[in-house]
Amino acid sequence: MSKGRLPAKTISFVSQKGGVGKSALARLFAVGAAHRGQRALLADFDLDQLTCVEWNAARLQAAIVPEIDTRAFKSLKKLRKAEVDVDFIVADTRGLADDLTKELAEESDVVFLPTGTSLDDLRPTLALARKLARRGAEGRIVVVLSKIGRSEPQLARAAEAIAEAGFELLPEHWPLRDGFQADLDAGRAGRETRNPFLREVAERMEEALMQRAQAALPRTSEAAE
Ligand SMILES: Nc1ncnc2c1ncn2[C@@H]1O[C@H](COP(=O)(O)OP(=O)(O)O)[C@@H](O)[C@H]1O
Ligand SMILES: [Mg+2]
Repeated sequence: MSKGRLPAKTISFVSQKGGVGKSALARLFAVGAAHRGQRALLADFDLDQLTCVEWNAARLQAAIVPEIDTRAFKSLKKLRKAEVDVDFIVADTRGLADDLTKELAEESDVVFLPTGTSLDDLRPTLALARKLARRGAEGRIVVVLSKIGRSEPQLARAAEAIAEAGFELLPEHWPLRDGFQADLDAGRAGRETRNPFLREVAERMEEALMQRAQAALPRTSEAAE
């Protein structure tokens, strides 16, 4: 941290299941921050898949700007030791919610839990949310309905189940669209999509994630140690 700067906010994307959109939303967030003139480190903790690192290689090859500082980390300790002078550390984790994920969640300013709307997806999501809340992440856990279809009743039921469980739900949802997948494959993310309709959707999601991240109260220095 340089003089006079607030410490970086750590924003993590976690889930029990794989394939729910963690890496897509982590990249959307990092790209959004960069376009807003804020410095973000995209920290990839999923060493088996290295989704963000591989995506960044495609991005560099295609000369897409702004450049996103994307690095793989084996542990939280390694991240703490790294030279990090940024506004946001955006942590992408592996599914399974292992100890590293839990430790990271404990130390994050906001923990986003992307999930599908089905009970099959919501049950493990809410179980993980409870576990993280018990470990001290209470008040910093935000569920995000992700890769959702077009059924309004399904959305409404999912929102109700999340509210009943006592957890916060991000007001924007992340819809499943072929175009978003194509963008990610091409080294783009979020607002960088070339489809004007999808751009609006991505911008709304970016704004919602950013607002929630910015609303997070600064953590005490002891907690951040
Ligand atoms: N909104 C979306 N629409 C279409 N495909 C998506 C969307 N978000 C993510 N994907 C794709 O779904 C797959 C899983 O998403 P990903 O973000 O990698 O999940 P996770 O990191 O939770 O495993 C990837 O192939 C990704 O490109
Ligand atoms: Mg991933």
